[in-house]
Amino acid sequence: MSGCGSSLSFAPQQPVSGVRDIVCVASGKGGVGKSTLTVNLAAALAARNLTVGVLDADLYGPSISLLLGTDAGVEAFDNGKARPKFSHGIHSLSVGNLLVPESGLVWKGPLIAQAVEQMLYEVAWPDLDVLLIDMPPGTGDIPITLLERVPISGAVIVSTPQRLAAVDAERAISLFHEYDVPVLGVVENMDGYVCPCCGKIERLFAGGIVAPMAKKRHVAYFGSVPLDPTAHAAADAGIPLFLQSPDSPWAKALAGIAETVMGSLARERANPKMAENA
Ligand SMILES: Nc1ncnc2c1ncn2[C@@H]1O[C@H](COP(=O)(O)OP(=O)(O)OP(=O)(O)O)[C@@H](O)[C@H]1O
Ligand SMILES: [Mg+2]
Repeated sequence: MSGCGSSLSFAPQQPVSGVRDIVCVASGKGGVGKSTLTVNLAAALAARNLTVGVLDADLYGPSISLLLGTDAGVEAFDNGKARPKFSHGIHSLSVGNLLVPESGLVWKGPLIAQAVEQMLYEVAWPDLDVLLIDMPPGTGDIPITLLERVPISGAVIVSTPQRLAAVDAERAISLFHEYDVPVLGVVENMDGYVCPCCGKIERLFAGGIVAPMAKKRHVAYFGSVPLDPTAHAAADAGIPLFLQSPDSPWAKALAGIAETVMGSLARERANPKMAENA
């Protein structure tokens, strides 16, 4: 094990057939932009000719069906496996495709764990280069089920430029390390504001918290993504902002992060034990 040197042992992990790399997009704190970055990272990876899927593991607060503009209702293939949705060049599945928005989910621990596994193994995911998992906030049942059961290639951790979020991001890093999953890097979201008039990025927060935290934990700092006031409209329209405003500073930041993620995954594949701090 990496990190504290403890050794956890579990039932063997089960690969997801046809999926090369599974990458969790996680944070400790809620509302820092995980789901937004997941769909936009997916769009940026798909633009690099990768076949990309997104699994919404936030069963209690699903966002992916809205962010990718997919409809309710999931069909099954003849073999009984559910057919993922396809929009904007991205394959996806969310509880939002299975339940109407006004219905709450009243499943407790074991059922939740089972549902997450079904969304991975009982879904006819096509052959994918990358399956991004949009994680729920925190370090509860769902992340732990995934970490125990699924071979995860790496995690991308999201934090806003505040101590409040960075402290929780650090907890998420510890959780992945505890399960020997490489943390590919940390993204600092909503760092600065893109002026809608001139497109310049103005700093809103003092900063200087997330990058030093990543350095302290020997994890790559993937850079920052600015707060873009048009992100809400794109989200509400079900279109990744990366595709809607491909020339924006926002899209450029996402393209850079996608490239770095691809490089990190390639290094992990080539040399699993050495790549994390490269
Ligand atoms: N870079 C950004 N610029 C502008 N708005 C953003 C940006 N990132 C996220 N947002 C907005 O912040 C809000 C929270 O984002 P999002 O739902 O992606 O966070 P989350 O971490 O997935 O939240 P949760 O923990 O509840 O799942 C949304 O309204 C989203 O549109
Ligand atoms: Mg979310």
